[in-house]
Amino acid sequence: MDDLDLLITNGIVVTASDEAKLDIGIKNGKIAILAPQGLLNTAKKVINAKGGYITPGGVDTHVHLEEPALFGGKGRSSDNFETGTRSAICGGTTTIVAFAPQAKTEGSLLEVLKETHERARGNCYADYSFHMLCGNPSEKALSEFPELRRQGISSLKIYLTYEALQLRDDQVLDVLYSSRKEGFTTMIHAENGDVLNWMTKKLEALNLVAPKYHATSRPQLVETEATYRAIMLAELMDAPILVVHVSSPSAAAHLRNAQTRGLPVYAETCPQYLFLTREDLDKPGFEGAKCVCSPPPRENSGDHDAIWLGLSNGTFTVLSSDHCPFDYENTEIGKKSTLSVEHPNGKFAHIPNGLPGVETRLATVLSAGRLSMQKFVEVTSTNAAKLYGLYPQKGSILPGVSDADLVIWYPSQGKDGALTPFTLTNSMLHHRCDYTPYEGQVLTQWPRYTILRGEVVYDHEGEGLQALAIQAPKRSDFFIVQKSAVSIAKPLSMVSINGLPPVGMGGDQFVDVD
Ligand code: URP
Ligand code: ZN
Ligand code: ZN
Repeated sequence: MDDLDLLITNGIVVTASDEAKLDIGIKNGKIAILAPQGLLNTAKKVINAKGGYITPGGVDTHVHLEEPALFGGKGRSSDNFETGTRSAICGGTTTIVAFAPQAKTEGSLLEVLKETHERARGNCYADYSFHMLCGNPSEKALSEFPELRRQGISSLKIYLTYEALQLRDDQVLDVLYSSRKEGFTTMIHAENGDVLNWMTKKLEALNLVAPKYHATSRPQLVETEATYRAIMLAELMDAPILVVHVSSPSAAAHLRNAQTRGLPVYAETCPQYLFLTREDLDKPGFEGAKCVCSPPPRENSGDHDAIWLGLSNGTFTVLSSDHCPFDYENTEIGKKSTLSVEHPNGKFAHIPNGLPGVETRLATVLSAGRLSMQKFVEVTSTNAAKLYGLYPQKGSILPGVSDADLVIWYPSQGKDGALTPFTLTNSMLHHRCDYTPYEGQVLTQWPRYTILRGEVVYDHEGEGLQALAIQAPKRSDFFIVQKSAVSIAKPLSMVSINGLPPVGMGGDQFVDVD
């Protein structure tokens, strides 16, 4: 094979199922061949991976870019498609799925999707797709689901909280009913908005408004109740759901139980629930605002252990970033701009919810050393691609099939060229956000190269992340069409759903049942 575009030699190739010393040949942006080491020796360009691991590029299926602050606070999230995807590839993520955000006040989903395409097109460094974020499941919006499907969208997110987005249970059923017909996966933000609003008012009445009370207003049972409710509604409708950004061990237990019962229930967690605790919300001054996200970071390392366990035992299908950055200092959109005359230290209820994390997701999790390499690939790339219909183009290293999206990691410590442990600071990152909640964390892993469709798009040479070079120019259109969104879901029931005739998969209307 002397017509390869790129040859990667001497690395250890890891997929979700295998690990082997193989050389990788790349042609026309695709994986062309995997061969025993030393057999392939010519290509236009050769990278000697020298004992480093080579994994599929990260697939981050929970990324908010350029979105209005629908999650408390004001302004828009601080990364746009350009800066957010630049940050992604510098952290080893080659595909993101961002949101096309429809607020309660908006009508047409197709219109929102069109506008989101316009913001993304020509501005991305990574490949991308979209989930529809559905804040107003009106008859019009629901009638647009088949067209969304035709336009390559097969997943959406709904909310059980946030004033601008919260759906009632009957609206959730409307969405699940229509989603089921189209084979969509419905992502659910599971927190009980009515309860946390009530808690917030009581805390405010007592002038307990500092960032740390964000966690008090949303105890674990607020998440657990909503998670259980989401599962029940999905069971009623026999429709696949994915509960996003799970933080609470008791919510995870309900999810595991639902999975054990064979329900099409999936779950996602994020690094913030592996590394941050409510103590981070109580940093001096107003610094705790830098860790305000919902659900909030939980109590202690015992909670983290339960979430790590859920990753290992399969409760969590995916580990995403929930990248949703808001600057700290910016007085328009900033987390600090919640300062007011009555509350000189700011009010937690006004802090935009969300954290930056698309660039740090892979390295923080890998550096923690608590997942096997194969499990790491499974939850950060392969499962995400499968769940949202991007597999096997994304999420694997299959010759003739997969895009040549790869991360070459530095060899493990102690060998030649290994990355020595370093302390993460925000100045090393490439997002457009003035802080990282992981400032000061010691990491032992960072991508040496990120390769997208056969091109080196990130080359981190030498010590210190400042030494990077982004080598590929911006490219014009990387929208990835989602095929069936449920390729790892069990087949949905062909029999009646809780006394009602089947929806989708042949039947498409509820009719009277005798
Ligand atoms: O606090 C969070 N999670 N912000 C991002 C928006 C969301 O709900 O995912
Ligand atoms: Zn959410
Ligand atoms: Zn989110």
